[in-house]
Amino acid sequence: MTDQSQVLADVRRGMIPAHIYHDEEIFRLERERVFGRSWMFLAHESEVPHPGDYVVRRVLDDSFIVARGEDGTVRAMFNMCLHRGMQVCRAELGNASHFRCPYHGWSYRNDGRLIGLPFHREAYGGEAGFRRADQALLPAPALDSYRGLIFISLDPDAPPLLDYLGDFAFYLDFYANQSPGGIELAGPQRWRIKANWKIGAENFAGDSYHTPQTHSSVVEIGLFREPKASKRKEGALYWAGRGGGTTYKLPPGGFAERMRYVGYPDEMITRARETWTDAQQRMIAEDGFMISAASLFPNLSLVHNWPKVADGSDDEVLPFISLRQWQPVGAGETEVLSWFAVDAGAPEEFKRLSYKAYLMCFGSTGMFEQDDVENWVSITSTAAGSMARRLLLNSRMGLLHDDKPVTPPLAHFSGPGTAYVGYGEYNQRALLRLWADCLERPLNRAARVELGSS
Ligand code: FES
Ligand SMILES: [Fe+2]
Repeated sequence: MTDQSQVLADVRRGMIPAHIYHDEEIFRLERERVFGRSWMFLAHESEVPHPGDYVVRRVLDDSFIVARGEDGTVRAMFNMCLHRGMQVCRAELGNASHFRCPYHGWSYRNDGRLIGLPFHREAYGGEAGFRRADQALLPAPALDSYRGLIFISLDPDAPPLLDYLGDFAFYLDFYANQSPGGIELAGPQRWRIKANWKIGAENFAGDSYHTPQTHSSVVEIGLFREPKASKRKEGALYWAGRGGGTTYKLPPGGFAERMRYVGYPDEMITRARETWTDAQQRMIAEDGFMISAASLFPNLSLVHNWPKVADGSDDEVLPFISLRQWQPVGAGETEVLSWFAVDAGAPEEFKRLSYKAYLMCFGSTGMFEQDDVENWVSITSTAAGSMARRLLLNSRMGLLHDDKPVTPPLAHFSGPGTAYVGYGEYNQRALLRLWADCLERPLNRAARVELGSS
């Protein structure tokens, strides 16, 4: 990695070599060292609630069948037939007791075990010649879940998911655990953008600064109630464990008043009070911050926002939650997966309106989405050229020349990690520091074999 060491050194001081947003060599390293070892979100348990339910999801080029077996266990199995390598499951989701390979017809139970081979006796000499019992679709090297969110890692030696998340789990709960029943997901909508995967992850992690400029029209047309988009700078930016995010500052009030302010009905507020820890509630009730966008390294982002959903001048807002994944297709292209998430116990009318709020803002045709992607595509296409190799982008917002912060971190903040108020690129730098740490460490040999790249 000697030729890249200057790139990593620049990234670590907040000066970003522009070409990292569109560079085949960097992407080759990311494939091995970022996506080859991190925990990556694959699906939510609510997407496969019953035995036999499955969804097919990708990590880069690797396709996985995420299926709930008859025993109730959710597994992630590499979607490649043990015979000649055909994709065993070609549907995106469904319910099946077995998967039959379309090529020659080997069939597998929904827990991955090989159960049937056409002409087993004639072609293989039956069980004596080829024992089915020892054969199963290759499992994901590591699988773990948190609050129903299923993650896999391609590194069999990955640390436990909870260790990986670290203190970010505190913040993940605001999105994934609003009541004892947890959340349910709808979607994902999927589409491709000609943008590098890191840009979305960085933006959601901490770019409050773009809102007044990029999304000014959303405020102008009245979709958003917050008096001015510039209100964002009064929110706190936090970084904890392997993730970080943005918050909005709420008007004065207690827990219930502030939850009501963003549109939660009383019954959901009561359940949230029973579910969240004292510290989680204090972040809203005493600190006055409501979580908004966030990213978990490397490529999962979350968003919580509360637009106006009623027509006319009515000031009523309603909150929505979305999970989104920036799934790299190449150095200059990303598949976006966007899920709508909602408290499973929420009233049906709330779910309906919350879904509408999501679609208006962050579905594939959402207004925030449209605004954002225009920027990211432009960055990616320009980053491919030769001049981008000479340019260091300034990502030092919030730092003085001597690396001291423009304003010190918050002394009193109920959440873990470090939080700042005001504009700053603390989180983008933290995310790219994790990226640099990954890039500089080659994978161990065993993990590389799993990746099939040695
Ligand atoms: S490739 Fe699957 S049965 Fe032959
Ligand atoms: Fe945005």
